[in-house]
Formats: sequence, structure tokens, C-alpha cells
Amino acid sequence: MRNKGYIISLLFTFVMIFVLAACESGGDTPIADPAAENKSESTIVSSEENVSDSEIGTDEITELANGKSLVVYFSRIGEQYVVGVIDKGNTAIVAEMIAEKTGSDMWEVIPEEDYPMTYSELTDVAKKEQNENARPKYRGTAPDLSEYDTVFVGAPVWWGDWPMIMYTFFEQNRDSLADKTLIPFSTHEGSGLAGFDRKLGSAVPGATVKKGIAIRGSDAQNGQEGVSENIDDWLKDLGY
Ligand SMILES: Cc1cc2nc3c(=O)[nH]c(=O)nc-3n(C[C@H](O)[C@H](O)[C@H](O)COP(=O)(O)O)c2cc1C
Repeated sequence: MRNKGYIISLLFTFVMIFVLAACESGGDTPIADPAAENKSESTIVSSEENVSDSEIGTDEITELANGKSLVVYFSRIGEQYVVGVIDKGNTAIVAEMIAEKTGSDMWEVIPEEDYPMTYSELTDVAKKEQNENARPKYRGTAPDLSEYDTVFVGAPVWWGDWPMIMYTFFEQNRDSLADKTLIPFSTHEGSGLAGFDRKLGSAVPGATVKKGIAIRGSDAQNGQEGVSENIDDWLKDLGY
């Protein structure tokens, strides 16, 4: 009997050591090691899980569903984590679904300077931009935002945060965005919405930030039926 108890406690110790080692092991991929300052914000949520900051009242829902809306997104083709080389970005796929389902216009944030096509080079550039709090330029100018009541804003999670180019967009259009309803969406490979909603609220004071959705990039690429259903449910919750 004592022996059995001893073996069980020994097994338990081994399991705990293994679990702790797995949690603490760092790495040079952003998934394993998101920006240190964002670690606590990078909640792991599955593609079905949405992150909500606020409850939505009935009046707001009607207003939201009736207004004109725009989908603004940043996405990238080339070599990507989990899905390999892609010719349509994960976030672009989700952005198109949202636009189609809501009848929104779309606008893509395209960097003035192309990002590297290989994943490892890209992660280095993205890390440097984040460390330097850079504001990479995008091509052209944003559409006339005064036409819209609601703006869905989406991007891949990069190192536990919005890609820096999205902060360029938020800052350059801060005044026009301040009276809008903003609805964030992310694609990711483990970090979920990574605080996109809260960070968006801080970047654009005055805006009303609604419940966002986080979709796994690999699901966007390879499991579109399920993603489409998740987006339907989320939009329904938002009043669409
Ligand atoms: C530079 C870089 C950093 C990334 N950092 C994270 C991260 O911190 N957390 C995460 O879950 N996924 C991370 N990923 C994975 C992407 O968020 C995911 O593959 C996303 O779907 C890519 O979208 P896109 O094809 O629209 O660019 C990162 C990818 C890259 C290229």
C-alpha cells in the first residue's frame, strides 16, 4: 500500500516537472515567446472563443446593424507559421468573410516597404519594429472614414500585439475613428485576440470598441467551414 502511494507521488512529481519545463522553455518563435511585456496579455483562446469587453445593449445592436461598415485589415502572403507558403493571407481570408457577411466595404493596409517572404526573416523585422515602437508607412491613404459608422479592424497577432503598421493606421486616422464603433479581429496561432480590443481602445480614445473575434490562421487557411460558422455566431451576437 505504502509502495503504491510512493509510486503515485513519484509519477506526479515527474509529470509536474515535465509540465513546468514545457511552460518555461523559451524559443525563438513568437508563438513560444511573445514579446515579454505582452506575455500576460496573450491569453490562449481557440478559434471558437471570442473575447468580450462589454455587454451590448439592444439599442446599440440596432444601430450597429443598420450603419454602413468598413473592414480594414493587414495581412501577408509568403511563408507563414503552421500553414507554410500561402498565396492568400489568413487575415485576408477572414476579412473577406466578414465583409461578405456584413455587406461591408474593404480596405487593405499595404506596407510601403514589402516585408520579407520567409517566416524567420519576417519575425526578426517584426520584432525590431516592435522593439523600436516603429510606425511603418502604408501605401496611399485610408478611405473617407466619415462615410462609416462601424469599422472592423483585423490583423495577425505579431509578437503578442498588433503589427506596428496598424498603430500607424490608428494614429493617422485617430480623429476620424474616434466617433466610430470599432470591432477588432485577429488571426493567430495561439495568442487569441492578444488584447487587441483593449489596445485598440487605448490607441483611439473615444471610440466604442465592441466584442472581437480571434481565429486560428491555420483554420482560416484550411478549415473555412468552421470559421464561417464561428463568424456567423459572433456577428449574430453583435446584432448582424
Ligand atoms: C512576425 C510574426 C509574429 C507572430 N507572432 C505571433 C504571436 O505572438 N502569437 C500568435 O499566436 N501567433 C503569432 N504569429 C502567427 C500569426 O499571427 C498567424 O500565422 C496569422 O494567422 C498570420 O496572418 P496573415 O497570414 O494574415 O499574415 C506570428 C507570425 C509572424 C509572421
